[in-house]
Amino acid sequence: MEVIIKETYEEVSKFAAELIADVIRRKPRAILGLATGSTPLGTYKELIRLHKEEGLDFSRTVTFNLDEYVGLTHDHPQSYHYFMWENLFKHVNINSKNVHIPDGTAKDIPGFCRWYEEQIVKAGGLDIQLLGIGSNGHIAFNEPGSSLGSRTRVKTLDEKTRQDNARFFRNMNEVPKYAITMGIGTIMDARQLILLANGAGKADAIQKTVEGPITAMVPATIVQLHPKATICIDKAAGAKLTKEYPAEPRVLVLS
Ligand code: PGA
Repeated sequence: MEVIIKETYEEVSKFAAELIADVIRRKPRAILGLATGSTPLGTYKELIRLHKEEGLDFSRTVTFNLDEYVGLTHDHPQSYHYFMWENLFKHVNINSKNVHIPDGTAKDIPGFCRWYEEQIVKAGGLDIQLLGIGSNGHIAFNEPGSSLGSRTRVKTLDEKTRQDNARFFRNMNEVPKYAITMGIGTIMDARQLILLANGAGKADAIQKTVEGPITAMVPATIVQLHPKATICIDKAAGAKLTKEYPAEPRVLVLS
């Protein structure tokens, strides 16, 4: 696991976008795992810039999103369908047939979850999975206590997560109670992980994730077991780390 600390959120976003762009350039039919929330917004902005100014081509790219609220229709402004189209997909040349986002309106949710897992496998597996982290250490909607081997399923949202996300809704009652989420096992199957965090509100969760013991009570700690994971954070999110970490990836030059 590589930890990289950047001065600013903009630098974190550029780093993540470059990593994802690199996967797409090397493999035009890249299978991307994408995330929502405020953290990846800068990454998406930079990917859009790379598309518009440098011709980054999404035409063959396939995407799978981490999660979606149960009960919100695709055009609901707080749904993750709406988020992804507004903040990334409508600005790049992605084929809508290649976009996968969990369907929070599915009638048979367990059946849908199995189908979603099958689609990821059929596509060839995730080449890179982008992740944020909750202030409680969740990844996607895998809340503390989630099985570290879990697959795509419905989860009850933690009270802390509902409070954190209440800012996007008119009041607490409107914040959904359930979500469909990729499991921790699903995320760990991705060939590469990039986890981002910024701001002081994430400092505790990042300290535990990077330097704490692996525990289901802080689901993000599982990233320590991934063979190719990068955690890129800004100074504020890294403020509670006790060791020194670089600002650039370590590059091993073999003679
Ligand atoms: P945020 O959410 O990016 O809005 O902080 C991250 C998360 O809860 O995973």
